[in-house]
Amino acid sequence: MSKLIIVANRLPVTINRKEGELYYHPSAGGLATGLNSYKSDKPSLWIGWAGAIVENDWERVSIEQDLKKDGLVPIFLSQSEVELFYEGFSNKVIWPHFHYFTQYTTYQESYWEAYQAVNQLFATVVSEHIEEGDIIWIHDYQLLLLPALLRKLFPSITIGFFLHIPFPSYEIFRILPWRKEILDGVLGADLIGFHTFGYMRHFLSATYRIAGYEHDFGKLSVEGRPVNVDVFPMGIDYKKYAKQEIVLSGKDHSFQIERLAKKSSLIISIDRLDYTKGIPQRIRAFEQFLIDHPTYHGKVILFLIVIPSRSNVDQYKELKEEVDTLVGRINSQYGSFDWFPIRYYYRSLAFPEISTLYRESHIALITPLRDGMNLVAKEFVASKDRSRKGVLILSEMAGASNELSDAIIINPHDKAGVVTALKQALEMTATEQSWRLRKMQKQLKKYDVRHWAESFIGELTKKTLKKEVQLNKDSVQELLKAYSDAKTRLIVLDYDGTLMDFHVDPQAVKPDAKLLYSLKNLSTNDKNKVVINTGRDKKTIHDWLGHLPLDFAAEHGVWIKNGSKWKKNQGLRSQWKKQIRPVLEQLVERTPGSFIEDKDFSLAWHYRRVDKELGAKRVREFKDVLTYLITSLNLQVLDGNKVVEVKNTGVSKGAATTKWSDAKQWDFVLAIGDDTTDEDMFKVLPPDAYTVKVGEHASIARYRVTSVAQVRELLSLLME
Ligand code: G6P
Repeated sequence: MSKLIIVANRLPVTINRKEGELYYHPSAGGLATGLNSYKSDKPSLWIGWAGAIVENDWERVSIEQDLKKDGLVPIFLSQSEVELFYEGFSNKVIWPHFHYFTQYTTYQESYWEAYQAVNQLFATVVSEHIEEGDIIWIHDYQLLLLPALLRKLFPSITIGFFLHIPFPSYEIFRILPWRKEILDGVLGADLIGFHTFGYMRHFLSATYRIAGYEHDFGKLSVEGRPVNVDVFPMGIDYKKYAKQEIVLSGKDHSFQIERLAKKSSLIISIDRLDYTKGIPQRIRAFEQFLIDHPTYHGKVILFLIVIPSRSNVDQYKELKEEVDTLVGRINSQYGSFDWFPIRYYYRSLAFPEISTLYRESHIALITPLRDGMNLVAKEFVASKDRSRKGVLILSEMAGASNELSDAIIINPHDKAGVVTALKQALEMTATEQSWRLRKMQKQLKKYDVRHWAESFIGELTKKTLKKEVQLNKDSVQELLKAYSDAKTRLIVLDYDGTLMDFHVDPQAVKPDAKLLYSLKNLSTNDKNKVVINTGRDKKTIHDWLGHLPLDFAAEHGVWIKNGSKWKKNQGLRSQWKKQIRPVLEQLVERTPGSFIEDKDFSLAWHYRRVDKELGAKRVREFKDVLTYLITSLNLQVLDGNKVVEVKNTGVSKGAATTKWSDAKQWDFVLAIGDDTTDEDMFKVLPPDAYTVKVGEHASIARYRVTSVAQVRELLSLLME
């Protein structure tokens, strides 16, 4: 049976060495706590770093044995790998940079070298465990290069990648000197997942601008291999937090928490010690609240739980000092003999304690400056499943705020806003607390961690089943049979790049005698309706093929010839051309070799003679500008093969195709095209239509052929 191999920097357990002894304890952070709650139905392995530095062979073997029974495979890193790969590139480059803390990004080549080497080490260890049919699921920012490294070793294996942290906007990402290598690394996966649409959008934009890959609804083609990018917001183990029964005893910490909660309103704050979490800002906002609202002195307590993390990295050390100082100052300044405003714990808490804190506290104050998701917010809400009492204050910069819109959403930089939110939360009626929680709980219950993992793996395996279908001997036979069984057949054909090879001079691809013969033969067959669906202007295509009993859609459907006469698509305008032409003229000036084609209702900028790199660069720049300029003009930018075209919305090869496909019930439908604009025609056809993509780019077509020659061969077979 195939297995699921989870690969993450950390295992769900971390090994610590204290006075020479090794201890295992649960790993901190959203990835480990969240993912560890997911139990796959498949056999699974989790491969990751063990935490401690273990140089002794016998110690390594004993750890391996210990972990093996839980399906865990440790990777051992040396002291210098920990410094350069983990503390260095992972946590002094990617972590700050992706969280928009560019002032902390450290550009050091030795970090990058170690990052590549350790990703390679992971690839080696993982490859020792891979068997036919396995699914590899790689996690997070420490392993951005791993998908491509594994793809190189196993070209057809199924690889998923999930990023647990934000993906920054292109403008931030582009600053990294290793941006292209990082993108290429991630693009080795078949499926790439993010927590939010925002991160996905940023990733796709960077992929397009830096690596030149375009996408269609998150689907891209990387050297002919389909890659899917999608959003999978991570959930929690809802039941675990909702249902936890705790037996309390007098000495128990949980018991103490309950007692405190009876006397005062508890505000909790739980995070790893990290500058992205906004802990000092949060403490200062709480101080401001105490200043503004002295009536609450003695009545509220901030439970500040800070979990030690990355303590060898400078910024984390400084942050620790800052938090210590702030808490000390505030407690000494505002505290009284029987009340301290802040209870501060710098350590990990066991699940029963955390869970009691969640349940007993009145407010969760979760105000990260930037956070991929933040599962603590979700855990808090789930812990209120029974009581339905409590208020979540959540930063809009946390991925979770996209789903938890019934929290009080704040901007963590806006101190006054946080103070107001605290007051609002403390004074919120029980009814309001209850309905807000109920709405969020409903969502979290449904979209729990199981749902998250299953939808990701489901999508990933769907991909495995739907490998590209080349139009081979068998499928051609099937197609020919369907064709000969059918009494009514619709055949829709693109022209350039499909029936005739692409040429730098658009006028040079007049149909040759052989093509004319095929088209004549097919179109004179009574059972057939043959349509040429082209982006070309009406005049040219009419001059070339108008003498045959073919139907036409020209200029992507601006002109239709359905029977004997050409008709114009109704309601089209062309006044906008005056505004757009100067932009295209500028583009031509800056891009030698490119030219403008002025069609009746569209303007096209052709760059088939332009150097490939330059053309691609210009398209990227100008598509953005154009898309922005045309928003109010009811226009669209169509990106074709070496051409960008501006035209009225609602005009497309797809809309044109429906004029024939919807006209009657066809027994057989065949559509062939090579271009992005042909995807529109594939989209509108029924699922049993034979849609055929010519060439390598991503497509939703059912079949694929590699060349015009293959298309023409297919047409000859139909004639037989
Ligand atoms: C975040 C990251 C994880 C990381 C965790 C703990 O949740 O997304 O990849 O493992 O923090 O950080 P650490 O550096 O201790 O592994």
